[in-house]
This record gives sequence, C-alpha cells and structure tokens, in this order.
Amino acid sequence: MKFDTPSPLVDALRDAAAEIEDTLDTLLPAEEGLEAALASAMRYATMGGGKRLRGFLVLESARPFGVARASALRVAAAVEMLHAYSLVHDDLPAMDNDDLRRGKPTTHKAYGEATAILAGDALQAHAFAVLADEDTHSDSAVRVELLRRLAIAAGPRGMCGGQMLDMLAERGNEAPTEASIGRLQLLKTGKLIEFAAEAGAILGKAPAMQRHALCAYGRDLGAAFQIADDVLDATATEAETGKRTGKDQQAGKATLVGLLGLERARAQAERLAAQARDHLETLSDRADLLRMLADYTIARRS
Ligand code: IPE
Ligand code: IPE
Ligand code: MG
Ligand code: MG
Ligand code: MG
Repeated sequence: MKFDTPSPLVDALRDAAAEIEDTLDTLLPAEEGLEAALASAMRYATMGGGKRLRGFLVLESARPFGVARASALRVAAAVEMLHAYSLVHDDLPAMDNDDLRRGKPTTHKAYGEATAILAGDALQAHAFAVLADEDTHSDSAVRVELLRRLAIAAGPRGMCGGQMLDMLAERGNEAPTEASIGRLQLLKTGKLIEFAAEAGAILGKAPAMQRHALCAYGRDLGAAFQIADDVLDATATEAETGKRTGKDQQAGKATLVGLLGLERARAQAERLAAQARDHLETLSDRADLLRMLADYTIARRS
C-alpha cells in the first residue's frame, strides 16, 4: 500500500499526532526551577516528532467503546512518554550508541548522558503518575488496571526484558533462531504495542472477548512492526527514518532480516499483519482504522 496518496488513515494519524502533542505539552513539567534542564530534556525527547503509533492505538482501541476523548488522550500521552523513555535509553552509548533520533541529535548528545538517563527515568515515572491521576478515569479500578498492565509491559517480562535479550544476543556467541528472535521482539517491542491496543478496552470496560481480540491484534501488530523496523534499517535512508540506518548488521543484532534475508522477513511481517487484522473480526467498522494500521505498519518508510 502506498501512503503518498490521501487516505483516511494518513489524515487520522496526522490529526491524532497533533492532539497527542498538545496533551503532552499540557502534561509534561514546565521548564522552570533549578531542575529546568531535566524538564527541558524530557520535552526534547518526547515532543516534536515520532509517528505516535502507540498513542494512536490507544485512541483507536478506545473508539469502539465510546471512551471520553480526554481520557484516551491522557493514556495515549502516557504511553508515548514511556516509549520516549525507552528510546532515550536505547540510544545511550552503553546500548545502541546512536546520535540521531527523529531527525535530531539523540537526547544524550544534546543534554549529556547523565541528564538523558534522568530524563528517561523521569519520563517513565511521569507516565505512571499521569495514569494514576483521577483525571484519567473516575473509576480507581480502571486506573489500577492501566497501571498494572503498563508496568508489566515495560518491566522484566516486557520491554526491559526484551532489551536485555537484545543486548545478550548482540554480545553473545549463541546463534539466534527464529524462536529466540520472536521472543526478543515480543518483549522489547510487542508488549508495549499490545498494551496500547488493550488500553482503550480497559478504559471502556469492554467485554472480555473484545479486550482479548485487541490484545491479540496488538501482539501480532507489534511483531510485524519490529520486523518492519529491521527491514527499514537495512533498506531505508536516514532522511526517511530520522535515525541512522544500516547499523543492525554491523552491530551484530539478532533480527529476522539477518537470519532469513529481506524477502523472507518481509513475508513474515505480511503474515503477521494479516493475522493482526483477522483478530478484529469481532469488532465493528469502528475498528476500520486499526485494520488499515496493520497494512501501514509494514508499508511505512519511516
Ligand atoms: C522505534 O519505534 C523503536 C522500535 C520499537 C522499533 P517507532 O518507529 O514507533 O519510533 P517513533 O516513535 O515513530 O519515533
Ligand atoms: C528498540 O529497538 C526497541 C526499544 C525498546 C526502544 P531498536 O533498537 O531496533 O529501535 P531503533 O531502531 O533504535 O528505533
Ligand atoms: Mg535497540
Ligand atoms: Mg536502537
Ligand atoms: Mg531498529
């Protein structure tokens, strides 16, 4: 699918990104006081860039259940803060050692390593504070469920666990297998995307079947998304992605592109995207943008 022509998804992504940006601006701390540099680095890392795919997933998974826009936007912003934290730390010299992100210098290049580490830590904590606030949902049981699910998605059995596997695979002598790469990607990328797709169902107190359908969709979408990221590393330019490309092979990253080659990796991403769409069968046409997002995830050039 080509996205240089007008499509409802492109319009919706653009509009959602603008709304999420405004919400982030309201929720992130102001650059004042002696610790202003921390707030400044948090804003630098989070605002003014990114596809906002995870935030969009929250908004669109909330749509079928009639969730108040303001609630969904706060959760979308919280997920984007958590994601921005993961990128700041992923780019550090001790991890992927990158100097370009979203078309500008990485946070540690702009603010120094110590401030970047703190900005990542503070973004994570702030994301949880936003979710815990009464403004996010009047029902405390809903707020606790959001906190619980995001904590699991971000922690040792989620993003951090996956990043550990990524580092071990890069530095170790064990040859990666399809299964080990699948698990690594499920944790480092899939869990947060799965949470974003589930969050709207939690906010809307959706029936269990629909909540499970959205989780399954998010899981397959996340897997397709990371394979597409690895394909872009091998095939896209820095102008397209806003980050350095051609680095995974050089760093010895465990990716499906490295293991199976470009064509088979692409085919696997297509299978996963189709599978993601199939999970939405029980949802009405109010999930149409989520269906289109599955195609976009693998067709994107950034
Ligand atoms: C990059 O995520 C990190 C991965 C999990 C592959 P995105 O490609 O969603 O990055 P932004 O938010 O659009 O910059
Ligand atoms: C990062 O994966 C996933 C995270 C949890 C941040 P990558 O290391 O491939 O992401 P990019 O390519 O730097 O965005
Ligand atoms: Mg990485
Ligand atoms: Mg990286
Ligand atoms: Mg990558």
